[in-house]
Amino acid sequence: MVGNLSPIDTAKFVAAKRAVDMVEDRMRVGLGTGSTAAWMVRALGERVREEGLSIKGVPTSTRTAELAAKVGIPVISLDEARWLDLTIDGADEFDADLNLIKGGGGALLQEKIVATASDTMVVITDPSKRVEHLGAFPLPVEVVPFGWQTTKALIEEAIDAMDVLNATGTLRMNREAPFVTDEGNHIIDLHLASIGDPRKLALVLNQIPGVVENGLFIDICDRVIIGHQDGRVEIIDINDGTTAEERIEFADDDNIFADL
Ligand code: 5RP
Repeated sequence: MVGNLSPIDTAKFVAAKRAVDMVEDRMRVGLGTGSTAAWMVRALGERVREEGLSIKGVPTSTRTAELAAKVGIPVISLDEARWLDLTIDGADEFDADLNLIKGGGGALLQEKIVATASDTMVVITDPSKRVEHLGAFPLPVEVVPFGWQTTKALIEEAIDAMDVLNATGTLRMNREAPFVTDEGNHIIDLHLASIGDPRKLALVLNQIPGVVENGLFIDICDRVIIGHQDGRVEIIDINDGTTAEERIEFADDDNIFADL
């Protein structure tokens, strides 16, 4: 474990640390959202502060933009960057093809746009996110607020005819009110249990009027880095068809807590 980090945070931290080693001077880097991505932003900030690494970061949420600014990463918009060298983000599930479910943190729309606009997308994760079949994690679907109940009914009707074990959706809430994304939309979480054909489901969902985007990331991720609590990392590369194992060395006084 690193300092006072819990085993799960240690796993997230070593995955993040390994991914940040892939960042080179002058890169434009997509900065993901979530607790694992937050470790990456902190570790990248440390490289900027201590090594003088010169990069531009494109955040995928307001939360990540605030954290990046706090730890010293220069931030630009995607419109300024246009195209990115690398995006590093977390995921809620990944399968053997490195297809993903994302959006547990509500940032799937910006995350998908940024990842798609990147030469390479690297997912950082702890071992719990690896699954045989996607779908145990509720699939987030971002919908416009106008007529969301009709959109939800259309989604349920469409997925009922597909190879899923269940077909119910719930509106994501933030206490008493519907959750609102950075783009001003709502999220319907689909409780499917298992998704037989993720590629088809992703296409069907995006055909429904009112749906902005879904949390299935198909053929977008290039590498997954799985961190373990003992400091090991597995690196799966879908393009090379390789899996490597390494050990991350870190000092207990790693100065990654600048924002805490
Ligand atoms: C946010 C996401 C996150 O990457 C995903 O939810 C994983 O988060 P965490 O690293 O906190 O488990 O997709 O929209």
